[in-house]
Amino acid sequence: MGTPHISAKPGDFADTVLLPGDPLRAAHIANTVLDDAVEVTRVRAMGGYTGTWRGQRVSVMGTGMGIPSASIYGTELVREYGVRRLIRIGTCGGIASDLQLGDIVLAQGASTDSGVNRSRFKGMDFAAIASYPLLSAVAERARRDGVRVRVGNVFSCDLFYGPDPTLVDTLAAMNILGIEMEAAGLYGLAAQYGAEALAVCAVSDHLRTHAQWSPEQRQNGLDAMVRLVLDAVVAA
Ligand code: HPA
Repeated sequence: MGTPHISAKPGDFADTVLLPGDPLRAAHIANTVLDDAVEVTRVRAMGGYTGTWRGQRVSVMGTGMGIPSASIYGTELVREYGVRRLIRIGTCGGIASDLQLGDIVLAQGASTDSGVNRSRFKGMDFAAIASYPLLSAVAERARRDGVRVRVGNVFSCDLFYGPDPTLVDTLAAMNILGIEMEAAGLYGLAAQYGAEALAVCAVSDHLRTHAQWSPEQRQNGLDAMVRLVLDAVVAA
């Protein structure tokens, strides 16, 4: 058994899978945040792990960068392994001028220049939206814990090094909060397969101020965000 990109056995994944882009972050979360985590797949060095958080089963797996890569893993997890909740744990570049480094952006919607959701939707514009239960649970928990959180639209770009120098202004004019590269794809596939998805992104750099997280801030900030998400949706 297995899929072209995942070698786990049926039942190896929990209902909820955290999806960082970086496979090393997935291993780090498995080793330092979860209890009793075991590796369940490692095709192309993309590790997937299942352990527990406060006694509840949960999995974590890297997706690689960009909608095409994240869509492969997300689709196989939902379609072949019965995963119900896909939660992207990532970073975004800040667009809104009042965002600070470390703020958490909950992607209520994901705009995009990718064609994947038009491919799914006969060329029409699909509103790529988060699961409301996941979104409200994380937003509520963040507010309760006094964590700075913003809920709104992100932009999932295909090209990290895009050709249009005015893109940031265009996004800001439509009140996009941050830019990243996966949310719209995950939301589209979740809709197609009847699953739930949420992208939770810490602001790691700001496209207007050019402020940037240090590697230590990135590590610590993302670890705190992962614990917040787990408390909100797994142990709740
Ligand atoms: N662009 C795209 N994705 C990102 C960025 C960015 O500036 N920062 C973090 N993820």
